[in-house]
Amino acid sequence: MQNNDNGMNRVTASPEMPGSVHWRSPSNIALVKYWGKKKGQIPENPSISITLSKSHTETFLSYSPAKGQAGILKEFSFEGKELPAFKERIERYLHQIGSLYPFLKDFDLTLSSYNSFPHSSGIASSASALSAIALCLTSMERALFSSPSDDYSFFRKASCAARIGSGSAARSVYPGYALWGSAAEVPHSANEYAVPLNDNLHDDFRDMGDAILIVDESPKPVSSSKGHALMESNPWAAVRYGQAKMHTGRLIEVLAAGDAGEFVRIVEKEAMTLHSLMMSSDPGYILLKPGTLEIIDKVRQFRLETTIPLAFTLDAGPNVHIIYPARFRESVKDFIEHQLAGHCSKGKWIDDNAGEGPVEITGNDR
Ligand code: DP6
Repeated sequence: MQNNDNGMNRVTASPEMPGSVHWRSPSNIALVKYWGKKKGQIPENPSISITLSKSHTETFLSYSPAKGQAGILKEFSFEGKELPAFKERIERYLHQIGSLYPFLKDFDLTLSSYNSFPHSSGIASSASALSAIALCLTSMERALFSSPSDDYSFFRKASCAARIGSGSAARSVYPGYALWGSAAEVPHSANEYAVPLNDNLHDDFRDMGDAILIVDESPKPVSSSKGHALMESNPWAAVRYGQAKMHTGRLIEVLAAGDAGEFVRIVEKEAMTLHSLMMSSDPGYILLKPGTLEIIDKVRQFRLETTIPLAFTLDAGPNVHIIYPARFRESVKDFIEHQLAGHCSKGKWIDDNAGEGPVEITGNDR
């Protein structure tokens, strides 16, 4: 591989080709929600999430110099099956990020992905799926051009590319807490990529559990993309973006100071605001199910009775995430099994937690 006169990457026969890379990348759950965006996948407000552990996607990418005129995605499979609709989406995505990875057009790519959670389980998979692909592409670039050379630039680039595929995916490239979107409180934050937010954490927030209660497994009637678009005409949009900025600043303070009550207040308010924005869109829609509301009621009751600072949150669907300090894991597990599992589809829930972030799988790990 060499650079041409314009400084652009150019393919030449080289011993690294054909090559392959393999990443496992987790999903994440937002505490402050991204809901509403501008052109070019620029968020209307900053968001903060926890990167998960068990809910992840594994992606294998193999590449070889293009045989035909121009290369790009030759094969795509998900869970061992060729899914044309997914393949088209990934092809579109590869074109969208063409200026970030200009060398791609000179390659034939084969991608295969596997989720640790069932595709139809109602868990948002775009964050793990798109971050895994972006990490593979950035590793491919590093294998071919020795760039990005340091980890800081590597993950920043992967985050930027992941964002273009799905906004929330930008945050999944980091372990623990991540912030995406420009926030006055964090000097190097940006709308184009996420940054890790783990430097100034109170001990109480270092080790967190996330129990994901699967209330309904059916596909969402209104996609997140549609939901973001409806924010453009939502009469509460400006107020919401102001609130999210305020919650971002406040949550950053709380994570450093260790105020569990305030953490719960912000996280639950964010979840309820997200769904109230869906209801107040035009047309309005409701993704919550009766089971969602039953669980919310019981979580609040349990918190009152036990003083365990667990908080519910929701993504764009009916499933409930219960976020809690991991030291209360046994009590929370017991509570879920005895009082909440009955509201879950076939009693299903996932005992997840804040994780170590994506992992590149190399050599003997494969
Ligand atoms: C409610 O990241 O799925 O989960 O950028 O259109 O792919 P696109 O949307 P997406 O939206 C996620 C919305 C959310 C909140 C969040 O994760 O911040």
